[in-house]
Amino acid sequence: MRSLNMPKLGVNIDHVATLRQVRQGIEPEPVLAALICEASGADGIVVHLREDRRHVQDNDVYILKKCVKTKLNLEMSVVPEIVRIACKVKPDQATLVPERRQELTTEGGLDVAANFKRVKQAVERLHESGIRVSLFIDPDEKQIDASKKSGVGMIELHTGRYGDAKGKKKQDKYFKELQNAAAFAINKGLIVNAGHGLDYYNVARVARIKGIEELNIGYSIVCRAVLVGLSRAVKEMKELISTAVGTVPVRAKATPRKRDCLY
Ligand code: PXP
Repeated sequence: MRSLNMPKLGVNIDHVATLRQVRQGIEPEPVLAALICEASGADGIVVHLREDRRHVQDNDVYILKKCVKTKLNLEMSVVPEIVRIACKVKPDQATLVPERRQELTTEGGLDVAANFKRVKQAVERLHESGIRVSLFIDPDEKQIDASKKSGVGMIELHTGRYGDAKGKKKQDKYFKELQNAAAFAINKGLIVNAGHGLDYYNVARVARIKGIEELNIGYSIVCRAVLVGLSRAVKEMKELISTAVGTVPVRAKATPRKRDCLY
């Protein structure tokens, strides 16, 4: 149940695909992860189709578009190749983010003010294809003004500085920055989302910022999923091994076939 002032949760499943790409295989399947997230209450699914395709692949995005029932939010850079793909896929929303090849994750928000022409062109192309566009920006009035001018109706405030802050003084400083930026943007008529670096310890304060519509969270959820799911995964493997050698009575379907559902 969502109360009226409770932000929605968009779950970023990029790192499910990261794990799959480590072996270049078929597991874990990001589409299945998306369906589990939705069945567990996620209000949207987020993926970042990076230029270097380090996690999510083009095919994932096309299949997700068919399977996601809530909202598919495609994070992407403004380069023409990716804009073309987005216009073909037609996700429910595109979020424009900065991208650098060497970065481990998105570092900082999109500098809309400095790259205004390129950003505006991408926004217009996506709007023409009927895609809602959001800009991922730092909590900064100059960037909010430039975003508004670019024609978008929505922004996502980068919460990374708050998320990374060590010690109460710094956390308070960056929290205040987010709070002020959210109020400033809402006052300009923008829909305000937030995300990056949010986890089980720092999310509460951001969730309480007045007017924030959606929080997009990935890494911490996937990390926690690995740990909370590990005990069951080990027990299932032990059971299969012991069943195989007859230590416990063989139960019907004890040995899953490749395609049996274990979830
Ligand atoms: N929002 C945007 C625009 C992002 O680029 C990312 C990371 O891909 C996230 C939210 C989620 O960040 P995290 O994985 O740190 O939760």
